Amino acid sequence: MCGIIGYIGKENPKNILIEGLKNLEYRGYDSAGIALKNENDIQIIKSVGKISNLEEKISSEKIIEANIGIAHTRWATHGEANEINAHPHQVGRVTLVHNGIIENADDLRKKLVKEGTTFKSQTDTEVACALINHYYKDDITTAITQALTEIKGSYAFGIVVENNPNLYAVRKDSQLIIGINDKELFIASDISAIINYTNKYILLEENEIATLTKEKYIITKDGKEIKKEIEETKMNAEAKDKCGYEHYMLKEIMEEPRVLEETLKPYLNNSELLPDLSTYEEIHIVACGSAMYAGMIGKTLLEEKANLKCYIECASEYRYKKIIYDRKTLVILISQSGETADTIAAMKKAKENNIDTLAIVNVKTSTIAREADKQLFIEAGPEIAVATTKAYILQVAVLALLSYKAAFSKKLIQEFDIEKELKALPKQLNSILEQQETYKALAKKIYNENNIFFIGRKIDYSICLEGSLKLKEVSYIHSEAYQAGELKHGTISLINDMTPVIAVVTDEEVKEKTISNIEEVKSRGAFMIVISTEEYKNCHENIVVPKINDFFQPILVVPVLQLLAYEVAKLRDCDIDKPKNLAKSVTVE
Ligand code: AGP
Repeated sequence: MCGIIGYIGKENPKNILIEGLKNLEYRGYDSAGIALKNENDIQIIKSVGKISNLEEKISSEKIIEANIGIAHTRWATHGEANEINAHPHQVGRVTLVHNGIIENADDLRKKLVKEGTTFKSQTDTEVACALINHYYKDDITTAITQALTEIKGSYAFGIVVENNPNLYAVRKDSQLIIGINDKELFIASDISAIINYTNKYILLEENEIATLTKEKYIITKDGKEIKKEIEETKMNAEAKDKCGYEHYMLKEIMEEPRVLEETLKPYLNNSELLPDLSTYEEIHIVACGSAMYAGMIGKTLLEEKANLKCYIECASEYRYKKIIYDRKTLVILISQSGETADTIAAMKKAKENNIDTLAIVNVKTSTIAREADKQLFIEAGPEIAVATTKAYILQVAVLALLSYKAAFSKKLIQEFDIEKELKALPKQLNSILEQQETYKALAKKIYNENNIFFIGRKIDYSICLEGSLKLKEVSYIHSEAYQAGELKHGTISLINDMTPVIAVVTDEEVKEKTISNIEEVKSRGAFMIVISTEEYKNCHENIVVPKINDFFQPILVVPVLQLLAYEVAKLRDCDIDKPKNLAKSVTVE
């Protein structure tokens, strides 16, 4: 996902913009660029790869006096990752940075070429820039408005214009905020880019055009000036610091007990905050990646404990599938960032069909948080590492609470002291996290492997899916999660001598069945690692986690797999917080 930062004020923006780009690195990128501007000149510098390459290029050039600038980290969608395709793009008098996808870029490009425009890059962004320049006569906001009537797709634009002292911004689907302090103004993809300069911001809504001058900001919609509320984030500068941990991923795993307590507290104090899902006949849980795997745990609990018909679907399929809404249905959208394009599209599909939507989301200012009918917030705080850990755990915790409430209201479970269980949970989780040496030692035994398999049944299989994804995304080891009973239908042929197989055994009902599957793979030479709630001796490594209530058991198992993935990735010297090819939030299809 691309990152945008812009500045207008009294300072030369170069350092502010570079610092902002570094704060946006977690979004994933493969090139970066900056445009600096004063009344008469504009200077554009771009580079492929890390921001440090851009800094090197900047230091080798004479930098103009400037008081306004835009900068960008690009995650390539249209056109390869090279300097020509990097942003900012300039066509004629318009220079622009963009986050999103222009879906009709090819048609617009053909039209503009016919009218005499020549393009340098392969990007959809340069097309948008050329279209605005095409319409620009003497008023840039008119030109922007005109161009937007023809652009289809998602965008957040930061724009500067020759012989024009202002900075412009406009968005649709991709987030963009206006940062405010008493002496300068900013635009940014999210507040983390400018947190060292302000915690005050305005959320730009769709097709509102922001004009930022050295003195003030003006926001217009359909040509009329509108007033916007100034919001304030709780995030502060040190929240972005690693607090002494080597990686954000480890810091965020270690935050899990605290943020779990913070997330559970409001619901413990007032269970009315939790909607009663038993009033629905059907539940669709829709998400992507780890959020979807959290949803799978929710599905199992809703079905097994609350006897609710529940479907899970990845958002990229759900948004295009034929969905027959013929019963009282609730669509639950799970998203840490609240900006995942496919999940937003799934939410829009449900709303278009007049279906209730409930978002389980971390970023309160995000599109999904703002547009779902109801929200259940997790209090994970900023999650900087691309690989989600604490947010995933909190998604599972909220889904467990929802399942408990539905089961209880349907009188399907014996009442138990949930308050006591929930109050004990953070401490139990802490005891799991303290065994880091165990996971380090185990990591040493598997970090050189090329293939690692996870097996489990029912909710344990859902846990395996997340454990496998964590391992893949941070250590780059190929891994697969399999329903334990399914391995023998083909994939067991891949089990060689000492191939690591990680089995998760917590579901009492199918424990014996999973154990027989463990025997199957062990007899074929597997290096058998068992994560269980009771001691299991017939394996190479057994990690025992405390047996707690079924609703919350996954919360004590997944962190073991998160830390194991972390330790393996560390031994393989991977870029743990910013794994290759990955973005923290995939705001494009
Ligand atoms: C993060 O570890 C995952 N790699 C990724 O799958 C993520 O869960 C997914 O992209 C959904 O993101 P969201 O929760 O912000 O919607």
